Amino acid sequence: MSEKLWGGRFSESTDELVEKFNASIDVDKRLYASDIEGSIAHLKMMAKVSIIEEEEARALIQGLGRVKDRIEKDEIAFSNSLEDIHMHVEDALGRECGDLARKLHTGRSRNDQVALDVRIYLKKETRHLIGMLRAFQRALVGLAREHQDVIMPGYTHLQRAQPVLFAHHLLAYYEMFKRDIERLSDSLKRVDVMPLGAAALAGTTYPLDREYTREVLGFGSVSDNSIDSVSDRDFVIEFISHASICMMHLSRMSEELILWSSSEFSFITISDAFTTGSSIMPQKKNPDVAELVRGKTGRVIGNLVSILTLMKSLPMAYNKDMQEDKEPLFDTVDTLNICLDVYTRMFPHIRVNQEAMLAACQRGFLNATDFADYLVNRGMPFRQAHSVAGQAVAFALGQNKELEQLSLSELHSFSDLVQEDVYGFISLEQMIARRITYGGTGFAGVKEALDRAEKELNI
Ligand code: ARG
Repeated sequence: MSEKLWGGRFSESTDELVEKFNASIDVDKRLYASDIEGSIAHLKMMAKVSIIEEEEARALIQGLGRVKDRIEKDEIAFSNSLEDIHMHVEDALGRECGDLARKLHTGRSRNDQVALDVRIYLKKETRHLIGMLRAFQRALVGLAREHQDVIMPGYTHLQRAQPVLFAHHLLAYYEMFKRDIERLSDSLKRVDVMPLGAAALAGTTYPLDREYTREVLGFGSVSDNSIDSVSDRDFVIEFISHASICMMHLSRMSEELILWSSSEFSFITISDAFTTGSSIMPQKKNPDVAELVRGKTGRVIGNLVSILTLMKSLPMAYNKDMQEDKEPLFDTVDTLNICLDVYTRMFPHIRVNQEAMLAACQRGFLNATDFADYLVNRGMPFRQAHSVAGQAVAFALGQNKELEQLSLSELHSFSDLVQEDVYGFISLEQMIARRITYGGTGFAGVKEALDRAEKELNI
């Protein structure tokens, strides 16, 4: 007869290859602490409703404590024959408490157990990641504050468009990560649901006090439908989806860091500790960290596609396919963590080349819109002003000059509204200073945005 915990009805032992194929222990062993936490709560609840004796619960809870210690000391050998972490913990408990351990699984199935374990795990990880995101935001805002008045070209279509403050540009990322935090915080509501008591799918005949289990585990609510409790992985999908959006943000930022650190831009210098060289070209200093973050975004988006594809055709309720949910989940948690960590460390060491940014602002007619605005201020309708400014740009291009390098009489030839004060009006400083609309790049507005961000981050 099979020695498996579920072996009662089996007369042949499992094929060796199937055992290996079926096992998830290599992946789900990282759920050991959540699994033990869930089992302790289950025991407390069973004692409370007298399914087991207080004494028995106490002995088993102590036994689980010892199992946890032994796992942490690497004293428990994981093996495919015990399939997953749930069976390993139960088996190890048997070694601690003998036959008494066989009472642990009363009124419970691995189906509701694994749903609980993943939820306990993901609650912790989501909160941790929110903390990581905030730490990274602090680094971002720190760099922005340090270079509060530095002017750079703002781009559309990757063509120089209008001058903006470098801090304003960085704060655009601050906003994106703020939304990522909001999304993750909101998703916690749906992770924070306690599924234990659903058992295999139908609930159980034991008088389980699910509300009590919820309270012991500190969950926000109890799941309402036993079938949904064991078949729902929306919370995993939602997490990976939010993580994918966050990685997409990190990837866009990475792309800019890569461009900015190229000699074509030279806007920033990434410190040696966060770059690498080439094995053949001695002059090279490569922005590997940023490239890897950009690259790893692909695997997180892959994880999202993988879990959606995994779930999309599954009938109710639990199916073994769902064992495959953990690799994409864990990989997403790990990837997002390390990307945030490495950027949080790298950002304070980014050197900003203010002169290069300024020089880039001085070519490319970044003040053409403001020249049109100048004419509008003196009474010309905007459409006409736009066309006049366009003619001036075309003329200056022919002379290989910028607008401010044209003489007053040259400018005057496009409109007699142009006066000497035009040069001040279309200077970089004044262009920034005049952008006073809320949310714009004006000096004062950006200072206030920095104040707000620092307040939100308790800096
Ligand atoms: N290792 C399984 C998983 O991760 C646990 C649940 C197994 N349930 C079952 N009925 N075989 O999904």
